[in-house]
Amino acid sequence: MKKYIIILLILLLVGCSQSESQEEKVTLIAHRGAKNLAPEHTLTAYNKAVELGTDFIEIDLRMTKDGQLISIHDETVDRTTNGEGEVSQFTLAELEQLDAGSWFSNEYQGEKIPTLEEIFDTFGKNTNYFIETRPMNGELVMEDELLRLIEEKGLKDYVIIQSFSRDSLKKIHQQNSEIPLVQLLYVNLTKEVREDEVKEYATGVGPYAPTIDKEFVERMHEVGLEVYVWFDNKDEKEFMPKVLSYGVDAVFTDFLDNTVEVMSQDISKQ
Ligand code: G3P
Ligand code: CA
Repeated sequence: MKKYIIILLILLLVGCSQSESQEEKVTLIAHRGAKNLAPEHTLTAYNKAVELGTDFIEIDLRMTKDGQLISIHDETVDRTTNGEGEVSQFTLAELEQLDAGSWFSNEYQGEKIPTLEEIFDTFGKNTNYFIETRPMNGELVMEDELLRLIEEKGLKDYVIIQSFSRDSLKKIHQQNSEIPLVQLLYVNLTKEVREDEVKEYATGVGPYAPTIDKEFVERMHEVGLEVYVWFDNKDEKEFMPKVLSYGVDAVFTDFLDNTVEVMSQDISKQ
């Protein structure tokens, strides 16, 4: 009898330690895809990120003149395509004529700006999606279409929505309170965040790495908000070890291959 009790205790201990280590894993978000290996926001950059084992691919949303949600960061197409002009002044058909790969390397000539629907159809439930909304010309125009697509593709359990816009997140929360929402924080506002206000509509906050300390992370955790940290491309390598030591829940990375390697060695939530 005593032997069985000891075996039972061992099994319980093993079970506990497994679930703890799963809980402690830091979530990896491939910022704009594997953007150091392929042109950002393209299907190729996202595919590389999924192959490298990212937990989430990050998508910056913008809307075309004809109401299609596409994946591109800047207000204009100038930096990441061979075209010129504001994204919102192009129809999807016009944007599809642009080359979104050559600016990165000739190897990627002919890459297209993908629609959100294409990204969902390509990866389905094989990855998770960290999607950023923003007002377009001051209007909240993308939220309804985003929620419609998530619903149509059956992906609500695979999505987190992030935004610097409180209004955008609140609008989404009113329509669907199940999808996790992350309030991104501007560089100079991190210290001023009212966690009790954010908690009313969001499940997490997204501060800029150099603006946080361990106390900030503990403050957010005390009220049940998760902490998703983003970096400037130039300071990620310096600040990554620091923020991991603070016990953050997730990090965006611009150097996915390197971060995956470092994480596989030793790093978990502290
Ligand atoms: O979404 C977090 C981070 O991506 C915010 O910066 O300008 O790259 O969208 P940005
Ligand atoms: Ca973003």
